[in-house]
Amino acid sequence: MNLILMGPPGAGKGTQSQLLSERFKIPQVSTGDILRTNVREKTRIGQKARAYMDRGALVPDDLVVEMVSERLGDADCSRGFILDGFPRNARQAEELERTLLRGGKAIDAVIGIEVERRELVRRLAGRRVCRKCAAAYNIIFNPPVNMDTCNKCGGELYQRDDDREETIEARLRVYEEETLPVTEYYRGKGLYGGINGIGIIDRITESIIEAIEERRGNIKVAD
Ligand code: AP5
Ligand code: MG
Repeated sequence: MNLILMGPPGAGKGTQSQLLSERFKIPQVSTGDILRTNVREKTRIGQKARAYMDRGALVPDDLVVEMVSERLGDADCSRGFILDGFPRNARQAEELERTLLRGGKAIDAVIGIEVERRELVRRLAGRRVCRKCAAAYNIIFNPPVNMDTCNKCGGELYQRDDDREETIEARLRVYEEETLPVTEYYRGKGLYGGINGIGIIDRITESIIEAIEERRGNIKVAD
């Protein structure tokens, strides 16, 4: 199953992708996580991406498209994948389609996690992320057992650099201007299902699975 999870910053894409990845035994491909690893390791991509990420802007398409195309070619993606944070604009959606077509693949469903702006800001301000496995916690809504340690792998928890108030605003703006129109593109193809992203995390996972089931079998092949 080839899945895209969409939604604004803080909607729960990472949280839900990890749960779906465990459930369906297919990898989560998070462009944000891959970019943060590149920044930490000071790779060529990381050095170019950092300034864009720090101000909440999109990293140039060429870098991200290349990164995703390579990742989707890995053996563990052959049975399916969950894209988290990609595509984020029209060009990336087109490039993804081209990459998948070349490999004889297609997207089965695009699920949008919908959450209102005020709640997003609250979630991002309280988020803590594991340095080792990228699991997301929230000091208010989803606290770890020990404040500085990941429940799953024991890794250290930290606050993302782009979870500052002014950067959050910039990220939300970019989402509305560039990414939201992509949901319409997928709606037009009969692949998009929006779900309410407010409530208990496990219930949201179930809504996503229901929405996936509704979309599968309703797939229009690319022209
Ligand atoms: P990215 O890492 O993708 O960030 P984002 O889209 O801004 O989304 P987030 O990771 O902030 O939120 P999320 O939806 O994953 O929520 P989470 O599950 O953590 O991108 C970062 C940057 O990288 C971009 O700004 C850009 O510069 C660059 N980039 C990435 N992809 C790119 C691309 N394709 N092209 C160009 N540039 C790209 O949850 C958030 C919080 O809420 C957590 O604290 C969590 O515990 C909590 N939470 C989750 N669910 C619930 C719930 N149901 N109730 C209460 N709290 C909840
Ligand atoms: Mg995320």
